[in-house]
This record gives sequence, structure tokens and C-alpha cells, in this order.
Amino acid sequence: MDLHSTYPGISDLKHRARRRLPRFVWDYVESGTGMETALQRNRDALDRVQLYPAILRGESDFDTRTQFLGQNYPMPFGIAPIGMSGLVWPDAEGLLARTAAKARLPYTLSTVAAQNPEDLAPSIGENAWFQLYPPKDPEIRADLLSRARNAGFRTLVLTVDVPVASRRERQTRSGLTQPPRLTPRLLAQIAMRPAWALGMLRQGSPRMRTLDKYIDSGQNLPPTAHVGYLLRTSPDMDYVNWLRDHWNGPLIIKGVMRAEDAEPLERAGVDALWVSNHGGRQFDAAPASIEVLPELRSATKLPLIFDSGIEGGLDILRALACGANFVMLGRAFLYGMAALGPRGPAHVIDILKQDLLSNMGQMGTFSLDQLTRSKLKN
Ligand code: LAC
Repeated sequence: MDLHSTYPGISDLKHRARRRLPRFVWDYVESGTGMETALQRNRDALDRVQLYPAILRGESDFDTRTQFLGQNYPMPFGIAPIGMSGLVWPDAEGLLARTAAKARLPYTLSTVAAQNPEDLAPSIGENAWFQLYPPKDPEIRADLLSRARNAGFRTLVLTVDVPVASRRERQTRSGLTQPPRLTPRLLAQIAMRPAWALGMLRQGSPRMRTLDKYIDSGQNLPPTAHVGYLLRTSPDMDYVNWLRDHWNGPLIIKGVMRAEDAEPLERAGVDALWVSNHGGRQFDAAPASIEVLPELRSATKLPLIFDSGIEGGLDILRALACGANFVMLGRAFLYGMAALGPRGPAHVIDILKQDLLSNMGQMGTFSLDQLTRSKLKN
């Protein structure tokens, strides 16, 4: 079957994913926080970014290659960290990591994914990034870093936009708890989605495996300790400085939305900033990430990564024109996996590539370094 004729766009994968996932899983993937206005704002603001088409440029080849943090990539995007990705499809992390490695694109493993760095090590390529939810306990902190490094992760991403857990009302409404408790309500939702149910039956129910070690051994944690305690420490600049001293690869700070936050991070010696409002999942009054991107671009020379609502190659070009150097996607890859299983993530990459090439053609942009603000009609 030619996947492109049946699923030409990310939106086709999204529709099929919705029909194949139990409701609580779909709501986990899709939801924002609050009234989901930040989520909607991300999409609306991307749609508002207009780019000039070009004429009379003659024939040419289009080159999607880019360099980011000293690495060459065939395309300017990768896979964002996704908490509990294993809830969406069995072996989700393995599938995503192997697909990214084959395509020579970066894959980011989340601290709260369903697989740990050690088990994932055989699946990752040279461009594996590890996302850190900052543990409070210094020993656990150091241990987690050395586990990620020993497993082959070279780039560290510190998430700073979760100072406290956000409220996810839609997830609560559909009956999801952390970890998921199989109530009759959830079981009824699962019974309606046999492909997902069979896959999960074979795999066993997903949990945050990276943290198993600390939870089992206790590590002198107070009796109230739980995953949240380990994860939800709210980091400060001292934490960033400590990380800078203890991680000898690239260090990226994820969740920067304000121009004035760039300068202290630049001084602390971080290697890149990641502009994101966490896909609308943390703070419902947050601006659309694409709207603050030009301000961040003007405020710093550091390379910028962008995420938040990217649904096609055209969105990637929009972000690059607004000042991003690299773009990451989370949900799009989950749609692909839920819709098509193991073939899904590669098809997502293919859609993005075709859409990139087609729209670079419309814009007369032969290479990505030509994508500057001069292409913006705003
Ligand atoms: C989320 C956390 C896990 O957005 O990053 O669900």
C-alpha cells in the first residue's frame, strides 16, 4: 500500500490515531491545560505566519540539510521528548529511537518515558538527546547523568517550564491517573480499541522505568517520596550552573519564552535555548511559542530550537523564518505510531520531507540558510 495516497498529511494520521487509541490515551496525547487556549493559540499563530512565494527563479535542486550544534543533519527537525510515550504504542521509545537513528535525526528520551537509557542504548544512533526533569537529590542527579552518558546520550536537555505540575483537566475527566489505574471506566475504553489492547497485553502496562532504581532502593527518601517528588523539583540558576559543570556535552535549556531570560543562560554557558510552551500543556495564558520566537532571536546569538504545534513541513519553514535553527515535534510522531504502528514514525518523517521540499520550491528557497525574516509577510 502506498502510504502517501492514503495518509498524505499529518492530519490523516491524527484522525486514524484517534480511532485506534482508548479515550484516556488520546486525551493524554491531545490535551493542554486549563481551557486549552494556549494549545489553540499555538496553531492559530502558526497559521498567521505568512511567507512570500517566489517567481522566476529557474530550475534548481532543493537542499534540506542543516548543521546544528556541530552535527550535520539531513533535515532540520527531530523527535521531542515525550513523557509516557509507551502509553501510546508498545515499544514506542524503541521505535522512535530506531527510526530517528536510521534517518540520522535526533531523538530525545524523556526522563519520564516508559523505557530507561540502558535498555534503549542499542536502539539509539549518534544523535540521541536525554531530557532531564531535575531530580532534587544530588546523588540521584549525578547518577542519572552518568547513566544517560554511559548509554550513549551526548546532549542534555533541561526542562525548565514545569516549576510545578500543571492541571490537566481533560486528562482527569477521561479517568487518567499517574500511574494509570485500571478502573472499570478505563477498561471499558480499552475494550473498544482491540489493536491497542493486544499490543499492551503483550508488552505489559507502561511505567516510568528510568526511575525504578531510585524508587526501589529508597535512597533515604522521605516516606512520602514518589515519582513526583523526584521529578518536580523546580530548578534555579544554581542548578543550571551545576549541570554546566557536570555535563561535558551540549546542554540545552527547554521552555524559554521570554527574551530577558536568554542573557543569563547565555552567560551560564549553555549551548542552545529551546523555545516552547510545552505544547500548551503547562500554562494556559502563555503566548503562542511562534509569536515569541522573533523576540528570542533578537535577544541572543545562541542557537534556537522550536516546538509547539508543528504539523507539517510548512510549519517547520515558518519556524525557521521566525528565527529557529532547528525544530522538534512530539505529537505528530505519536499520531504516526498510533495510526500505523512500527511504520508510522518513518512515514511522518517522509511527509515532513515532501512538504518541506514542496514549500521550499514555492518559496524559491534552495537551501535553509536562505530562510530569513525577509521571507515573512508580517
Ligand atoms: C507532559 C510531561 C510529561 O507534558 O512533560 O505530559
